[in-house]
Amino acid sequence: MMVPMKREHAARVAEIHCAALAGDFLPSLGKEFLTIFYQGVFDLGVGFGFIAFENNQPVGFVLGSVDTSSLFKQIVLSKAIPMSLRVFVALFRRPKLISNVLETFLYPSKEDVPEKAELVVIGFDEAYRGRGLGRQLVNALNETFRAQGVHSYKVTVLQSNQRANRFYTALGFKCVKEFALYRKKWNLYTSTIQ
Ligand SMILES: CC(C)(COP(=O)(O)OP(=O)(O)OC[C@H]1O[C@@H](n2cnc3c(N)ncnc32)[C@H](O)[C@@H]1OP(=O)(O)O)[C@@H](O)C(=O)NCCC(=O)NCCS
Repeated sequence: MMVPMKREHAARVAEIHCAALAGDFLPSLGKEFLTIFYQGVFDLGVGFGFIAFENNQPVGFVLGSVDTSSLFKQIVLSKAIPMSLRVFVALFRRPKLISNVLETFLYPSKEDVPEKAELVVIGFDEAYRGRGLGRQLVNALNETFRAQGVHSYKVTVLQSNQRANRFYTALGFKCVKEFALYRKKWNLYTSTIQ
């Protein structure tokens, strides 16, 4: 079963995100940071998403936005205090993260393609991967983008994440750009909605 993502899903989505993309920058800031982030998406209405349910439990999600740059700016402004507190705690535990925090401000310049709309993140619990659920959520995302007048959107993924690169390629995304961030190499894909 698939349902639209709501604010009440924020904590569980943050948990799936942290486990599915452990080692990425946002999960390194902690589950509480991500819960505030996902609550912000719905408090401000700056994004939309879908949840895959199996056995009455959310097991995966996708988040999209018609303008990710604006999404991040608005959430950071409106949740500045609780988010900063979580960032300070993360930096206290792992001071090396400071360079990643600073580099994050370069992110919009790395994504300089005409598309503003983005598949921000998609992830599933390990046991629920490879069952066609990712394809289903991306189809739902495409329908919503189409209804909002979006005909092309982007997604970035680590080059080392072979599974996700194969996933996007299988779904017809085209790799249009490569860039470096956080001392890692990334692929930027775009998808045209038919
Ligand atoms: C990447 C991810 C979202 C894919 O979701 P999924 O539900 O496992 O993918 P699906 O089962 O819907 O696969 C769709 C297609 O992608 C391809 N694919 C998916 N996983 C693949 C793999 N490991 N190897 C090769 N192809 C793969 C298949 O061709 C499949 O086509 P089919 O439906 O005709 O079989 C999921 O593996 C995941 O949560 N990974 C961890 C988080 C992550 O990396 N997110 C992406 C970064 S934003």
